[in-house]
Amino acid sequence: MSHSTSSTAGKKGIHRRRFLGGLAGAGAALAATTTALSLISQTDSKNKASAASATTSTSGTLVIPSLLSATTSDSTDVYTLTMDTGTTEILSGVSSSTAGFNGTFLGPTIKVTNGDVVQMDVTNNLGADTTVHWHGAHVPAKVDGGPQVAFADGETWSPSFTINQEAATLWYHPHALGTTAEQVSMGLAGMLIVEDDTDTTAALPSDYGVDDIPLIFQCVAMDDEGVIKYDLAGYQEQDLNYPLLVNGVNVSDTTLTFTASTTRVRFRLLNASLSDIITIQRSDGETLTQIATEQGYLTEATEVDTIRLVAGSRAEIVMDLSAAAALEAVITTGWVSGGSGTYEFLSITAEGTDTPDDLPSTLNTISRYDTTDFTARTITLNNNGATMTINGSAGTSMDSMAMISTTVGSQEIWTITNASQLEHSFHLHDVAFQVISINGEDPTGVNLGWKDTVEIIGAATVKIAMEFTDYSDDTYMYMLHCHLAQHEDEGMMAGLMVTAS
Ligand code: C2O
Ligand code: CU
Ligand code: CU
Repeated sequence: MSHSTSSTAGKKGIHRRRFLGGLAGAGAALAATTTALSLISQTDSKNKASAASATTSTSGTLVIPSLLSATTSDSTDVYTLTMDTGTTEILSGVSSSTAGFNGTFLGPTIKVTNGDVVQMDVTNNLGADTTVHWHGAHVPAKVDGGPQVAFADGETWSPSFTINQEAATLWYHPHALGTTAEQVSMGLAGMLIVEDDTDTTAALPSDYGVDDIPLIFQCVAMDDEGVIKYDLAGYQEQDLNYPLLVNGVNVSDTTLTFTASTTRVRFRLLNASLSDIITIQRSDGETLTQIATEQGYLTEATEVDTIRLVAGSRAEIVMDLSAAAALEAVITTGWVSGGSGTYEFLSITAEGTDTPDDLPSTLNTISRYDTTDFTARTITLNNNGATMTINGSAGTSMDSMAMISTTVGSQEIWTITNASQLEHSFHLHDVAFQVISINGEDPTGVNLGWKDTVEIIGAATVKIAMEFTDYSDDTYMYMLHCHLAQHEDEGMMAGLMVTAS
C-alpha cells in the first residue's frame, strides 16, 4: 500500500488543494512506516504553512447548525435528539448515506448554563446499537454515555444530569464499543456549549449564530460513489476522495462566506474528524486571539499564530474585525494518506460599526496543581499491528480492557507514554486535567489551560494531573482512550471506575 501524500493530489481534479512543500517529507515518513495502521505524520511541522494564494469559487454562506430548544418540565430542560440515517450531498452531485441528530448530517447545537438540570431524550433509529457521550461534560458515569449504556435501535435513552462546570465548548457523539468511527464518520456529532454567569462570559460575544459561531471540522474519506470510509478494509487510499467539511459543507472547492454584523466575533472550533489533525490560521498571517481550550477559558487572551487541533479537540477564538479576513485549515495527514492540504474555508466580511470594549485582562483563574503529593500512575499507549492497547490490554470488549480504579477526591498525576511511533490523541472522561509536562518540558501558553484531550505524538511522554471530584459509582465507569476513532475501536481504550472514598 502506498502512503505517498501526494498520490491523490491530482486525482480527477475533484479537490482544489494547495499542497504544501513541507509535506514531501511527511510522505517519505509515511512510506517508511512499516505498519498499515492509521498513521499520522510526525514530520509535518507545527509551523505555519506557507499559504499560497488560490482562486476559489465563492459560493455559499457558512451554514450554522440550529440551536436546539428545550421543553421545560419541573425545572428540567428536556432536549430531544433523534438519531437517524439519511442521505447528504457531500461530493457535488453524489448522494452519500449519512446519519445525524434531528437531520441527516451532524446535529443541532445544545446550549446550557452551569447549574441547569437537563434531560437528554435520545432516540436511536440507526438500525444498530449506539450511545451518545457528552464529550467534556463533568457528569456521573451512568449518564456519561460510554459503551456500558449502549442502547438498541428503536429505544430512547433519557439521561438526566446537572451541568456542573465552567463555560466551555463541548460536543456530543456516539461511543458504542467498536462502532464509534463508523457512526461518527456518518455524521453523528454536535456541539454542546456550556455558559456560566461569570463576568468573562458576560463580556464575550454570546449571540449564537450572530457573533458566537460554531465551526465543526471533519476530514472525511469517501469513494467516488460517495460511500464514507472509516476503516482500511477493501480499498486503496489513493482511490478515495478526502473532502474537508465545515459545519457539514464540503469546502474542498469552495470558500464559505460569513458576514460579521458586529466587530467582535467569537468562533468555537471543534475537530470532529476521526483522526486528522487540523490547524487553523488566518490567511493573511496575522495572529489569532485564543480565549479558551477544551475545558474553559485561558487565564488571559493569548495571541497565537496557529491553533492545532487533534481529533476531539476544541478551542475558542475572538476576532475583532475592522476589515475583511479569511481563515484557513491546514490538514495534516491523519488516517491513511489522503487528507492533506490547505483550505481557505471561510471569508469574513466585516460590517460591524461598533467598537467593542477591551477584552477582560483576566479571563479565568487557573491554580496550577502542585503535584508533589499526587498519586502517580502510568498509562502506556502501544500497538501490535492493528491491535491497540492501553497498559497492555486491548479494550475491544468491556472484559478485556484495562481498568483504572480510583476514588472521589483522589488527586493524580499520570505519565502517559506513547510506546509507538503513531500519533495519538489522549482523551479522559469525567474531569478536566492540566498538562504538567511534555517530554519533560513545562507547558507554556495555551497549554496551561484546562483540557480533556491532548496530543501525544509518537514516542512522546506527556504528564497530566487531575482531581476526581463529585461523582462515584460501583457499576458504571468512565473511559480514557485515544480519540483517533479507529484506534479507540481497535482497542486503545481503558475503563476508569471512580468509587466513593
Ligand atoms: Cu469524545 Cu470518549 O470521547
Ligand atoms: Cu469524552
Ligand atoms: Cu491513537
